[in-house]
Amino acid sequence: MLTRVYNGIKRRVSGPHDERLPLHGHEPGAFDFPEVNRMSDEELSRLNELLPWSSWVVDANGRRFGNRYTANKRNNAETIPDHRITGLHQRYDLTDKSVLEIGCFEGNHTAALCSLAESVVGIDSRIEHVVKTLVRCSMAGLYPRVHCVDVEQEIPDAVDLTCDVMHHVGVLYHLEKPVEHLRRYTALVGEALMLDTHVAPEDVEIRQDEGVRYWHFDEHGRDNPFAGMYGHAKWIVLEDLVGLLKELGFADVDVAEQRAERSGPRVLIYANR
Ligand SMILES: C[S@@+](CC[C@H](N)C(=O)[O-])C[C@H]1O[C@@H](n2cnc3c(N)ncnc32)[C@H](O)[C@@H]1O
Repeated sequence: MLTRVYNGIKRRVSGPHDERLPLHGHEPGAFDFPEVNRMSDEELSRLNELLPWSSWVVDANGRRFGNRYTANKRNNAETIPDHRITGLHQRYDLTDKSVLEIGCFEGNHTAALCSLAESVVGIDSRIEHVVKTLVRCSMAGLYPRVHCVDVEQEIPDAVDLTCDVMHHVGVLYHLEKPVEHLRRYTALVGEALMLDTHVAPEDVEIRQDEGVRYWHFDEHGRDNPFAGMYGHAKWIVLEDLVGLLKELGFADVDVAEQRAERSGPRVLIYANR
């Protein structure tokens, strides 16, 4: 077992993929992956080895599709759809909506969104995540558009990222310039934004930049599949984040959940024009 220090806290971490879960014997998932269901054990094992999976789901035969990251992270099978997506659909009825998903990772949310919305575009800065998202969704018979895009850079001209609804989960607190990012990317949104992010804890040193108060957080770098792409991230003070969203044209900003997670305080925000 390796030990690493993150933000002054010593954590035990096992290396990715060094503790594989068994292929068989899991509780079948509620979400259907028909292409996996009909695959032989050998082909599914090859698919699981082929890509650097850091999350997993279960097919109708109780078999693992994907892999956990470590025994401490993404150890349990993903629940599809995630309850936040169910809430998003209840609020904004995605049936005739286009959705842009920021940081699509391995396509678990992407597949759920595809099953509800008219169209879905996923973007992620890591090309391996783009590939895994395409594979995960196609195994469910779903075909989103997925692009390799770094959301801290200019929006590329070549791809249309405009949307009715933006799904933004687990990414903002990994960004070095979250305000610049939100200014650019919320301009693409016609109706609503679902934002799930860590915010600054109360008992930390607070700095100020880009017009907001934030906590400086050291990032883990390109090789960590969950991390931001740059040296540090800013965890914005909740009050300033809500104010920023209002300034960016969201008339209604609802902080629907405030959770005390192991890594720090986290919120779920639904905001609409
Ligand atoms: C913590 S994971 C969250 C994944 C997924 N949204 C979820 O909720 O399970 C962060 C994701 O954001 C992506 N990401 C990090 N920095 C990014 C950037 N600058 N541009 C685009 N994607 C980024 C990572 O590659 C990763 O897929």
